[in-house]
Amino acid sequence: MEFNIAVLPGDGIGPEIIDEALKVLNAVGKKYNRTFNYVYGPVGGVAIEQEGVALSGDTLNMCKRCDAVLLGAVGDPRYDDPQAPVHPEDGLLDLRKGLGLFANLRPVKVYPSLIDHTNFKPDVLKDVDFIFVRELTGGLYFGRPKRRWTTTRGRRAVDSMSYSEQEIERIVRVGFEIAGTRKNKLISVDKANVLQSSRLWRQVTMEVSKDYPDVELEHMLVDACAMRIIQNPRYLDTLVTENTFGDILTDEASMLGGSLGMLASASLAGVPKEGNCTFGMYEPSHGSAPRRANQDMANPIATIVSMAMMLSYSLGLADEARAVEKAIERVLEEGYRTYDIMGEGKTKVGTAKMGDLIAERV
Ligand code: NAD
Ligand code: IPM
Ligand code: MN
Repeated sequence: MEFNIAVLPGDGIGPEIIDEALKVLNAVGKKYNRTFNYVYGPVGGVAIEQEGVALSGDTLNMCKRCDAVLLGAVGDPRYDDPQAPVHPEDGLLDLRKGLGLFANLRPVKVYPSLIDHTNFKPDVLKDVDFIFVRELTGGLYFGRPKRRWTTTRGRRAVDSMSYSEQEIERIVRVGFEIAGTRKNKLISVDKANVLQSSRLWRQVTMEVSKDYPDVELEHMLVDACAMRIIQNPRYLDTLVTENTFGDILTDEASMLGGSLGMLASASLAGVPKEGNCTFGMYEPSHGSAPRRANQDMANPIATIVSMAMMLSYSLGLADEARAVEKAIERVLEEGYRTYDIMGEGKTKVGTAKMGDLIAERV
């Protein structure tokens, strides 16, 4: 079996963590006799440098022709100036919109061998395992109007948290479907006590829930959810929420797993159902960590787990995905750690060594 993967390494630590994900993917190919063909393209700061835009039409079309997209990270401090005409992050947003990737899955997994080295009491982390379903192509990120302008009384700016019922319905369905494969418990996170967009969100969610009588639905306000994530994370199983809330809550939740460098993500163009492949883009939830770039320091595990999600969601290779996850578990149990998850008595390794160890165990 042959698969075509679009590889977009991006900025900062992006190229380093992508190298390790491909190392592990090649090990999968060898072991299971699969061929993975790679085509490369620029996105983010490197694309601005090479092509003047954060994502060119050519790169977007290249992605559309592939079975899945694997992305490192975008973001470069050289373009952080709020006055800059183009930002690396625009490339990521154009990819999400251009590829129709409305459903972003971010699984929060706590590896037992890391529990003792997080910021939490071990008791809080016991049996924690939940997944965020984040809406990815609407809300504040894309809503119109969106602009900055000057009035006679000074400067103003606006972003719009705007949603149609269709956008809400399709993401909430993903939430219900995933909840159905887990504990049949869906938490919809909103701010319906204040926001009109959240009131519509809640209304549509209640309507959709009629199609899923086996799934218990709970509504949770986003501020309370932020609290619950660190107060009693075991309570959570499947959560569905709008774009900005999901962005913020998932960085917070990543700390339960010990580091942002452990939080994977899958951005899908359809509803994931068993036995069905969905086009998707796979990238870690974290950014380009520019201060850690080119030092063989970055943790590649979030990217490798994202690659495993690609195997199962977009390529239909569930056994291969499990082999990768098992290999990661073993390496952590054997005590190997990058700097961000380092603990007393453990063996500190760099980015490339971590990739080698996982690939060997596959
Ligand atoms: P960041 O996620 O890059 O880093 C936050 C913190 O986590 C830093 O201390 C960093 O060193 C650490 N960290 C992140 N990934 C790590 C890893 N794999 N291993 C070890 N440590 C890791 O967020 P930031 O610093 O706020 O943003 C930097 C740039 O990345 C910005 O330009 C931002 O827009 C961009 N960004 C991109 C993405 C993406 O491409 N999906 C996501 C978030 C931020
Ligand atoms: C993420 C990132 C992106 C987002 C940025 C880089 C546009 O923070 O994937 O979580 O806000 O979605
Ligand atoms: Mn984010």
